Amino acid sequence: MALQTPDPVAQAHDRLIARSLEAKDATQAIWASDIEDLTEELNQIKVEFARFRLFYQWGIEQVSTKLNILRQEFEDIHDYSPIEHIRSRLKSPESILTKAVKVGCDLTLPALRERIRDIAGIRITCSFTSDVYWIASMLSRQPDVTVVATKDYIANPKPNGYRSLHLIVKVPVYLSDSTESVFVEIQIRTIAMDFWASVEHKLSYKYGQRLPPVLKAELDDAARIAEELDERMGRLRDEIRPMEAIGSGDARHVDTP
Ligand code: GTP
Ligand code: MG
Repeated sequence: MALQTPDPVAQAHDRLIARSLEAKDATQAIWASDIEDLTEELNQIKVEFARFRLFYQWGIEQVSTKLNILRQEFEDIHDYSPIEHIRSRLKSPESILTKAVKVGCDLTLPALRERIRDIAGIRITCSFTSDVYWIASMLSRQPDVTVVATKDYIANPKPNGYRSLHLIVKVPVYLSDSTESVFVEIQIRTIAMDFWASVEHKLSYKYGQRLPPVLKAELDDAARIAEELDERMGRLRDEIRPMEAIGSGDARHVDTP
């Protein structure tokens, strides 16, 4: 049988295919390991971020416990509560990142911890304006609560008529081997302020900056009425309070909101 002379063209072709197959294998190997690393990194970030948010949940629980104790103690003594409702919310991961991007905050946990101070939020509603300041003062006096910022939109309402008292506080979270502090945003307002704010929020959500002038006028009017209602209710409460104190002969009423 005659030996076949090797075909140089076919040989070159085979070598080319072998080389490109090797290269393809190598690329896939790099990609696969990159994806594995990336997935692991993402999982780690996810775990760290979940733990990061957990601290704020604990911060909410700390402040909620304080408020519930104040409420129960007050109800026990006075048969009346300066706190009508307490609501809390933990910012979602999406909202945290959206706000961080909006305010130009680095996307690192220390930067988020320092700059985004409303990850934990608590909203308290009361009947009377005096209750708002009483709650703020009772909380601020607690030794483990540090008030780092106050915005008094009751004394200085926003141009749109928004009224509420905002505190940013720092509270400790006690862990097994360390103590961490977290910021909690506390909004305290009367029922009338809350009612107005929730309607305004819905209108802003629907119309954004393009609120029709007729609705804007209605909203301005409603803000004035809400403020007047708070003043009237406050005056009525002042009428009742001295009678209560005399009627019960209880000197502790002097300290009430
Ligand atoms: P944010 O970036 O929105 O958190 O505001 P800020 O950092 O300037 O703080 P500010 O204390 O002014 O507002 C904090 C929160 O108060 C908001 O997220 C709202 O929940 C509430 N708030 C402030 N202004 C208004 C308002 O005009 N209308 C309503 N409905 N809520 C408001
Ligand atoms: Mg906010």
